[in-house]
Amino acid sequence: MMSIRSLAGACLSAFAALGAFAVPASAQNYPTRTITMIVPFAAGGPTDVISRIVTAHMAQTLGQSIVIENVVGAGGTTATTRAARAANDGYTLITGHMGTHAASVPLYPKLAYHPEKDFEPVALLAGTPILILARKDFPPKDLKEFIAYVKANAEKVNAAHAGIGSVSHASCELLNSILDVKPVGVPFNGTGPAMNALVAGQVDYMCDQIVNAVPQINAGTIKAYAVATPERNPSLPNVPTTAEAGLPAFQAQAWNAVFAPKGTSPAIIATLNAAAIKALDDENVRKRLLELGSVIPQPANRTPEALATLVKNEIAKWTPVLKPAS
Ligand code: MLT
Repeated sequence: MMSIRSLAGACLSAFAALGAFAVPASAQNYPTRTITMIVPFAAGGPTDVISRIVTAHMAQTLGQSIVIENVVGAGGTTATTRAARAANDGYTLITGHMGTHAASVPLYPKLAYHPEKDFEPVALLAGTPILILARKDFPPKDLKEFIAYVKANAEKVNAAHAGIGSVSHASCELLNSILDVKPVGVPFNGTGPAMNALVAGQVDYMCDQIVNAVPQINAGTIKAYAVATPERNPSLPNVPTTAEAGLPAFQAQAWNAVFAPKGTSPAIIATLNAAAIKALDDENVRKRLLELGSVIPQPANRTPEALATLVKNEIAKWTPVLKPAS
């Protein structure tokens, strides 16, 4: 018969053993040093801008700095491959989006990562409606004239984008397939540099995320023909929807979100998700995101599980668009 003392000792050692399955010390104190946030495109573009706005607030909450590292190339897949292979200790994250974590799957048969298998979803940051933009002196005055002009000059016009599989590439692939045109694609390391070329009149048109376009549209340095969402965007009340402008078939909204390498502990994911949500509820962060036309996720869409569902649905949505049945 076990004595009370030895029974208590056995219970204590059992609890101690169970404790080993509790949150590991590294996660309990996380973060204890600087976090790297990889942005898969050049500085100044929409992914970079959204990432910097939100991570600046996350850093305050986490008590550690978050350093943005712009890693460019191959429509964002170079950076995303690197992030997939990073240590899953919570100190290397990536701001991915509809391009890196959905459109790239059908466009790169040998993609070195899979958005669902190689990443842990952390938090959705912002929805970003797509606009049809053109250089200021592009002849068409409105979307109807744009459609006619691009069809009539198909082999002469060119469209800027941020690389195969980027949001700007994928969304204009959808537009071009609807119009049945094949413009010359002009790739850049991000739509930050692409926008500079558009403003300079070096390229003809571009499909870009609203956050990159609002400042230029308000400055009158580019043309905006339409926004590809059912409703007009509050930051651009004078820009018609594609439906109002005569092309209801073209609907496109991208999104930007934080991902961590597969195997990052649930405790670290929860800490990061809570910091992201706190940022999205901060009035200054909201003001800056809304001014740029972002759609701030509703609470139900801010969980890692909701982001996992979004990625799955977006891969299913863009695969037939970008890889039509051969
Ligand atoms: C994209 O086109 O995927 C992004 O807008 C590029 C960027 O954020 O620079």
